[in-house]
Amino acid sequence: MDERDERLAVVVDKPRAEAVIDELERAGVYDPDRSVREYDEGSVSLPVTAVPEAVDYREVVRQVGEPRLRDLADHLRERGWTDAEIESAPSSWAVLGTVVLVDTGDAPRPEELGEALLALHGAADTVLARGPITGAHREPDVTVLAGEGDTETVHREHGTTYAMDLAEVMFSPGNKAERARMGEEVDEGERVVDMFAGIGYFTLPMARAGAEVTAIERNPASFEFLLENVRRNGVTDRVHPYRADCRDVLEQVDPATDVRADRIVMGYFEASEPRSEDGRSPSDASHEYLDSALGALEPGGVVHMHEATPEGLVPDRPVGRLRDAAAERGRSVDVIETRRVKGYSEGVAHVVVDARVD
Ligand SMILES: C[S@@+](CC[C@H](N)C(=O)[O-])C[C@H]1O[C@@H](n2cnc3c(N)ncnc32)[C@H](O)[C@@H]1O
Repeated sequence: MDERDERLAVVVDKPRAEAVIDELERAGVYDPDRSVREYDEGSVSLPVTAVPEAVDYREVVRQVGEPRLRDLADHLRERGWTDAEIESAPSSWAVLGTVVLVDTGDAPRPEELGEALLALHGAADTVLARGPITGAHREPDVTVLAGEGDTETVHREHGTTYAMDLAEVMFSPGNKAERARMGEEVDEGERVVDMFAGIGYFTLPMARAGAEVTAIERNPASFEFLLENVRRNGVTDRVHPYRADCRDVLEQVDPATDVRADRIVMGYFEASEPRSEDGRSPSDASHEYLDSALGALEPGGVVHMHEATPEGLVPDRPVGRLRDAAAERGRSVDVIETRRVKGYSEGVAHVVVDARVD
């Protein structure tokens, strides 16, 4: 009996695949050397090295048949790609529920790349090429490379569930650690304002950790997903959503609706080009909202200000902007840390300044 043909797999409904793979990995029985395979309409078989105890699955089956293709290179080689062409294929991509999101870069035949990724990730039904994210609402430009073209998906990470339509709203795989960190930073009952909440990138992990979050988002599409995700994560009692411009919410003068915060998250920026002749930065970025933010921040509260910063200006420029805005209000800044979240573009880093403002 050929050992490879005797490999076990557990059958689960397709939408649960990503979450169950997480559980199988945690249980140490997931076999990453074999592929997830279509089992029948709506379900897939997940390769395991042993029958899992505490994982809910439909049945145990044997994966038999054609030789196993280990990785993307195997799948591309099977499609006739040369080694040089495989070299130009992307080395990373994101699997977000049933959607694979990839920067195709200089890959010669993006559709074939899409087919290969779909074959590699049996639980996925759509592969999207990621284009630029533009505009004040940070809208993505994506292209369907392979599969059913269903851009809606439900992604789970660190126990948080994110429903989204990747043709309508952005999702930055590179911010995964930062999303998780925000859940670890907050204390139970802390009052947090997320000024640029989107679909709940930071709001959800913070609310799941017990914080009271005022979540503000002005893009209607993102706001709809924010409401859905608040329900999906069971935090409706701790999230106060506003579909508005965050300045309008924070600058309310009516004490009855006055928003006060122990912590403010400013997760917004556009590629910050150098200042033009007239000294104005052509782009709209979170530092332009600092006055509204500081107006709502309690003395001794913490602000997390995100920025896309040319490497040479880290940390002085974002920290300087924070100090300037605080000084205008007669307040002082104690910088806790300036962190690099990820590379943003050539010579530009996505950074976040954590600071206490007295
Ligand atoms: C870049 S996204 C948030 C990204 C998120 N921080 C992450 O980690 O992926 C910024 C969000 O802020 C929203 N936004 C931009 N300006 C806004 C404003 N003045 N008031 C409220 N929301 C705003 C945009 O619609 C967008 O959904």
